[in-house]
Amino acid sequence: MLYPLSYWGKAGGLYPQAPMSLLSDLSRRFGDAYEAVGLDRAVGEVVPSQRPDLAQYQNNGAMGAAKATGRAPREIAEAVLGAIEDRAPFDELSIAGPGFVNITLADNYLVAFVNVMEDDPRLGVPMPAEPQTVIVDYGGPNMSKALHVGHLRAAIIGESLKRLFRFLGHDVYGDIHMGDWGLPVGQLIIELERRNPDLPYFDVSFEGPYPDESPVTLDDLSEMYPAVVARCKDDPEEAERARQATFELQQERPGYRALWKHFHDTSVAGQRKDFDSLGVEFDLYWGESTVQGRLGAMIGRLLEDGVAEESHGALIVTVTEPDDAREVPPLLLTRSDGSALYSTTDLATVEARIEELGATEILYVVDNRQSLHFEQVFRAARKAGIAPKTVTLEHVAFGTVNGPDGKPFKTREGGVLQLEDLIALVTDAARSRLAEADIAQEYPPQERERIATQVGLAALKFGDLSNHRTSNYVFDLDRFTSFEGKTGPYLQYGSVRMQSILRNARERGLDPGSILVPVNGEERGLMLRLVRLPDVLARAAAMRAPNVLTEYAYELVGDFNRFYDANHILSETDSERQASWLSLVDLVLRTLVRLLSLLGIEVPQRM
Ligand code: ARG
Repeated sequence: MLYPLSYWGKAGGLYPQAPMSLLSDLSRRFGDAYEAVGLDRAVGEVVPSQRPDLAQYQNNGAMGAAKATGRAPREIAEAVLGAIEDRAPFDELSIAGPGFVNITLADNYLVAFVNVMEDDPRLGVPMPAEPQTVIVDYGGPNMSKALHVGHLRAAIIGESLKRLFRFLGHDVYGDIHMGDWGLPVGQLIIELERRNPDLPYFDVSFEGPYPDESPVTLDDLSEMYPAVVARCKDDPEEAERARQATFELQQERPGYRALWKHFHDTSVAGQRKDFDSLGVEFDLYWGESTVQGRLGAMIGRLLEDGVAEESHGALIVTVTEPDDAREVPPLLLTRSDGSALYSTTDLATVEARIEELGATEILYVVDNRQSLHFEQVFRAARKAGIAPKTVTLEHVAFGTVNGPDGKPFKTREGGVLQLEDLIALVTDAARSRLAEADIAQEYPPQERERIATQVGLAALKFGDLSNHRTSNYVFDLDRFTSFEGKTGPYLQYGSVRMQSILRNARERGLDPGSILVPVNGEERGLMLRLVRLPDVLARAAAMRAPNVLTEYAYELVGDFNRFYDANHILSETDSERQASWLSLVDLVLRTLVRLLSLLGIEVPQRM
C-alpha cells in the first residue's frame, strides 16, 4: 500500500502525520527512486533484512530490474541510491553482494513512528483504503450437538480472524451458520417419534397449541443423534423415513415445525453457554433454516437460467471447469423428492449475505474435509451469478487436533471429549502449574480461580493458533500450559510483568513522557519490532493465519525482555530518559494486550 505525500509534515518529510506502516513508507521512497531512473516502481519494495546483523531492512529490486533490462544489478542499485534525494530517514544505505541494498534507519525517523504508535488508540495501524464487509462463518455446529473437541478449531480460529478483520477497520459479522435444516433434523424427529410416539407433534390431526416446554434437553439430543445416525446407516428404511421427515419439515408440517423450534432453542441455549465459556461471540445466529424462504425462488431461477438441470429426478448444477485436474462432481441442488440439502442452503446463504449484509468477503472457517463441498458451492455461486467476481468466497480450511498417538484426539475411554470437559481439563492443568510455579498463590481464592481459567484458556488457544491452521497438531497439555517457551501463559506472564513495572512507577510518582531515540541495540531492536505491527497484522489477515500473530507476540516479548535486562528503568537518574522508557513499556504492553485479544486471550491484571 502506498501513501500520498500529503501524509508527511514539513520537517524534512520525517514525521508521519497519520498512522502508516514504516515498511510502506520505505517502499514508497524506493519506488520513487526506481521510477526516477526509468524503472518499474514495483521493485522498490522494501523488506525486513534477512541478515539483521548487517542491516535492518533491504531492497532486492535491482536484481529484478536487471533481468528486465539486461543491465548490471550493481549499476542499477547505484543509480537508485543516487536518486534517493531525501536522506534524512537513513543512517546508512549500502550495496552488498550482487546488488542488494542494505538499509539502516536513522534513529529519529524510527522513533517518529514509535511516537505516532504510542499516541494512537489503533497503535499506528492505518484504516484500510477500501474497507470490506467480511462475513466470518465459523463454529457451525449442527443442531443437537453439545460442543466437543471437533468444534474447537473452527471456534478459536474463526474468532481470531473475526477480531483481526474488525481491528483492521473492516465491517465484520461473525456468523455461526448452524446446521438446523437438513437431514440431521429429520433424523432427530424420527428418533423422538420412535421413543415417544404419543407426543402431539406426530399426530397429524392435532390442532394445537403445542406444548411450550421442550420434550428434550440438549443431553437427550446429543444422545439421540449418534444413535439414529447409526441406525440410518444400517437400515435403508430408517434412512428413508428420516429423509421423508426432513422433506415434511421443509414443507412446514406444523408438528415438525413446532418440534424443530424446541430442538433449535434447546441447542442454541446449550451451545451459546459453551461458546461463552470459550470467549467466542457471534454477531449473527443464522442457520441453514434462515434462508428457507429464499430456496424456492433461487431454485426456480437456476432452472430458468439453465444453470440447474434434472438428473434422475434430482436437480443438479454441473460445476466442472475445463482445466480440472480431477473430476469435480455436480452440486446436488434438490433430492428427487424436492428437499433441500446442505449445498442448497449454503448457496442461498451466499445470496442472503450479499443481498442483506452487503458482504464483499465471505470466509468459511471449516475443517479441510469439506473442501470439495465449498469448491462446488463457490463454483455454483459464480455460475449462477449469485456471487459476482468482486465478492471473495474462501474456504479457510484447518486440520485436526490429534492425541499423542497422532490420531484425532479422544478421551482415555476412546470417546469424543466434550468442550466443557476440555475446558475443565486445561483449567485444572493451569491451576497445578500456578501452584508449582508459586504464582498467584497468596491471592483471594476467587481471583486465583479466575486466573487459572484465563491461563488455561490461553494455553488452549495459543497452543492451537500457534500452528499454521492447515496442519494437524498434537494436543500437548504439558507444553501448552508451561510458563516458558512459546506458550499463551508465557505471554500472559510477560504482560503481567509489564503491568507491574508501570504500577511500581506510578506508586513512585513517575510519569511517562515522549519517547526518545534509543540508547542501545536492545532498545532499538524493540522499537524496530514494534513498528512492524501494521505489516504483521496485514499479513496475518491476507493469509488468514493467526499463527503470524502468535509468532510476532512471542518475538515482541523476547525483545522486551532483552530491552528490560539492558536498561534499568526504575533506577534511571535521567528523568526524561526514564519517562521515555515508561512510555515504551506502556506501548509494548498495549501492543501485546491487543495481540492477545486478537487471539481471544485475556490478560490477568496481576499474577
Ligand atoms: N454444520 C456444518 C458441519 O457440522 C458446518 C457448517 C460450516 N459452514 C457452512 N457455511 N457450511 O459440518
